[in-house]
Amino acid sequence: MKNKIALTGIKPTGLPHIGNYFGAIKPAIELTQKYDARYFIADYHALNSIRDPKKIKEMTYEVAASWLACGLDPQKALVYRQSQVPQTFDLTSILMAFTPKGLMNRAHAYKAKLAKNSELNRDPDDGVNMGLFSYPVLMAADILLFDSDVVPVGQDQKQHLEMTIDIAQSINHIYNKELLKIPEPIIHKTTQTVSGLDGRKMSKSYDNTIPLFLKPKKLKKLIMKIVTNSQTIEEPKDPDTCNVFALYKLFTNHAEQEEMKKKYRAGGLGWGHAKTALFEKMNEKLAPFRENYSKIITDKEYIDKILDEGSKKAREIASKKMKMLKQNIGVGF
Ligand code: ADP
Ligand code: TRP
Repeated sequence: MKNKIALTGIKPTGLPHIGNYFGAIKPAIELTQKYDARYFIADYHALNSIRDPKKIKEMTYEVAASWLACGLDPQKALVYRQSQVPQTFDLTSILMAFTPKGLMNRAHAYKAKLAKNSELNRDPDDGVNMGLFSYPVLMAADILLFDSDVVPVGQDQKQHLEMTIDIAQSINHIYNKELLKIPEPIIHKTTQTVSGLDGRKMSKSYDNTIPLFLKPKKLKKLIMKIVTNSQTIEEPKDPDTCNVFALYKLFTNHAEQEEMKKKYRAGGLGWGHAKTALFEKMNEKLAPFRENYSKIITDKEYIDKILDEGSKKAREIASKKMKMLKQNIGVGF
């Protein structure tokens, strides 16, 4: 029996942090055990905001190298550049014809931009390009092109998935045939929100991240910056409301967590001790990733080979899908 398909897109926006790892990379890599995976670099999506050719190129390598360094096996997943699968843009044009403008008006990213413009007394369209406005259609094409069954994403992408489903259902309804597979989002509840240095959601936009591949010295320095309360060393502490412990849990097993909880509650454990314990565990777990990354990123030929091979296979699959779709809607025969 044919395996089910898991697909996700990753924007080339720089090196990942611990939140990206637990929220997106790790669960996606786990899915490759059971699914045929397609994990691609969404470089056309990034064009909306990154206009420096060197930067976008470099970040594409960085993101690909990051996923490989974290254990993504290119034998188990097609890894490719969105830009190398032109059928994506062919499908985008088709989907456009079936996408109500009103649906796009409701998209969060676009609405946020409108609100910002209004707040700053600017024209509502200021800084809104068609790439931003139709972002969800390109994303729907990424997904529908590969008959994706599941799409692992963060909570912030939920609305885009709902729009993809809307567009696909409407096309299937019009032609009275399942031309497009209806995908299902996978949003992990437990690791949905990894907290950052200040206790808010870890995010590049909040400047509170712990990057995955930091050298030990810098990693330690950053961990020492985690915001804690002003309790003294002697005072018993509550692990359940502590930012340091929240991160500690991600890098330790149950027994280690119970042991640490006891120390918190007994008093005598200062924040410096707790942070050092966190650093040790984190550093131990991240060291192999860091080493892999530093090797892979210097070997651009290797990354290109993986992306080119992945793209070639992706194009073959995509081309069959487009042929079937076009035949059914009466274009491109
Ligand atoms: P950032 O907020 O740092 O810009 P992105 O928006 O690029 O991160 O997120 C890439 C992926 O990582 C998405 O699937 C997103 O949901 C996930 N992710 C980002 N931050 C976190 C976090 N703090 N906890 C869990 N998952 C996260
Ligand atoms: N929009 C996603 C993000 O910003 C990236 C993305 C592009 C994607 N195409 C996709 C995610 C298709 C899942 C499926 O993170």
